[in-house]
Amino acid sequence: MIIDGKEIAKKMYDELKNEVSKFKSKPTLWAILVWNNSSSLRYIEQKKKWAEYIGINFKLEKFDEKISELELYNKIKSFNENPEISWYIVQLPLPKHINSQKIINNIHPKKDVDWFHPNNQGKVLLWDESGFVPCTPAWILEIFKHEKIDLEWKVVCVIWRSNIVWKPIISLLINAWATVLACNSKTKNLAKFTTQAEIIIVAAWSPWLLKVNMLKVWAIIIDVWFTVIDWKIHGDADTRLINLVWSRVTPVPGWVWALTVACLMKNTIKAYKIQNK
Ligand code: GUN
Repeated sequence: MIIDGKEIAKKMYDELKNEVSKFKSKPTLWAILVWNNSSSLRYIEQKKKWAEYIGINFKLEKFDEKISELELYNKIKSFNENPEISWYIVQLPLPKHINSQKIINNIHPKKDVDWFHPNNQGKVLLWDESGFVPCTPAWILEIFKHEKIDLEWKVVCVIWRSNIVWKPIISLLINAWATVLACNSKTKNLAKFTTQAEIIIVAAWSPWLLKVNMLKVWAIIIDVWFTVIDWKIHGDADTRLINLVWSRVTPVPGWVWALTVACLMKNTIKAYKIQNK
């Protein structure tokens, strides 16, 4: 069975649009784009489209891919100091000659609606519910809410390895009393873990990694990212036989963008409400 992320995102956009219509002024979200790869361009297009749908001004600053780390750092500094800019994001990935973490570390934590800055990441780790949640972990939680999946006591296998998604989602699952099996692409005998899990969250960039014989019956699979082979998009779950075990699965690709963008808008609106309290 397919979980329809686009439907969940549309519902969120309409709720947010309704909220923004009652605001005294229009919030503005700024975005910095350095690397014009097709995935980032698509992301930025979606961010602009849905920000405008909701009623948020979306301002984009594009830079040449050859911009030096120092020049980008100075740009970030000027965004931090500019009182006209309340919130901004730096679209990732950045070109290889720029150290992304160094750039993220310099985004002002209060302007960071992606919630990537170490201070903000620390809040997730410390169970501080007053904060935001980074966009991808946030939409994974939205799916659980929408599908009425209670995480308490559930065994969740997370197959991944990254600072901005894998670590926060593990913290959030622990906060929700799930039992977490933190695997990665080098885990030996992955099936030993996946067959124990009621929920599997996977982003290993490894097409068809999850086969039907690696799943528990009724398992819920959140397939987060995808690989393009011969112009075809493939997720990490082999969806061809998954119906055999009555699983619920989030298919790639469209809804990944839809929900990440919806959660970014939600964070921006939350930040606006805090600022205008
Ligand atoms: N690249 C892929 N996902 C994201 C995201 O959530 N935020 C930013 N800034 N860049 C990304």
